[in-house]
Amino acid sequence: MNIEKLANEIEWTLKEVAEKLKKSFSTELSIDTKSGKNDLVTNMDREIEQFIINHLKSIYPTAQFISEEGYGDTVTDLGKLTFFIDPIDGTLNYVKERKDFASMIGVYYEGKPVIGAIMNVMAGKIYIGGPELGVFCGKNKLMTIPNQGLDESLITVSSRLLLQGEPKMQEIIKKSSGLRMFGSAGIVFTRLIENRQSAYISHLKPWDLVAGKILTESLGMETKSIDESPINVLKSQSVIIGTKHLTQEVLNILN
Ligand code: IPD
Ligand code: CA
Ligand code: CA
Repeated sequence: MNIEKLANEIEWTLKEVAEKLKKSFSTELSIDTKSGKNDLVTNMDREIEQFIINHLKSIYPTAQFISEEGYGDTVTDLGKLTFFIDPIDGTLNYVKERKDFASMIGVYYEGKPVIGAIMNVMAGKIYIGGPELGVFCGKNKLMTIPNQGLDESLITVSSRLLLQGEPKMQEIIKKSSGLRMFGSAGIVFTRLIENRQSAYISHLKPWDLVAGKILTESLGMETKSIDESPINVLKSQSVIIGTKHLTQEVLNILN
């Protein structure tokens, strides 16, 4: 597997995706709901997912695809080249705010993480890399993230976990420097990568998690399940992604 070539192909794909999404604001979107009134899917979520899968399949015909809107495969193991695709992450932001949404592609090969890529569409920034490549935003190579603790860190907790009213979650927020919320897992991951905050606690699906997990782990952070069960990237789970120091402090409070 030529990882640099694969990274270039993913970068090209995400640039095309960004152009399509920016152009979509001059057309009328068709908007449906999924699990509830705030869980939206648009014609563009579907179109972008099909575009990414069709394009990558034309280059990697034996690859398998795990994706949100139903155009991927049913995947039970990571033996093959596997792409995790979230065509629009933060669809509610895309529809209501027209900013702060992302497109994400994560890649496993022979059971191991190889590339994570997140496009912050309206900022025009792609974060891409992995354990072998390092992590880049454009030409800038990003530095290993300092191992900060909770009391000096901004953190994000998803609204779903906050609304459960768990007192220990409130204790964690009180011990931190402050809570920040953005409505897109991808946007939060870019803030971790840029060392603007040091943890993200959320219930994430495979396509929400994998690209950001690979990027943040390549910069020294770790991903742990909040019940401390082993991470399975084929399943949805409640996780903390953060510095090693902070992650341990959070798990000590929760468990
Ligand atoms: C959602 C966003 C949101 C997170 C949800 C995700 P979507 O992704 O990332 O911030 O809290 O768990 O499902 O549905 O807009 O792709
Ligand atoms: Ca999505
Ligand atoms: Ca998502």
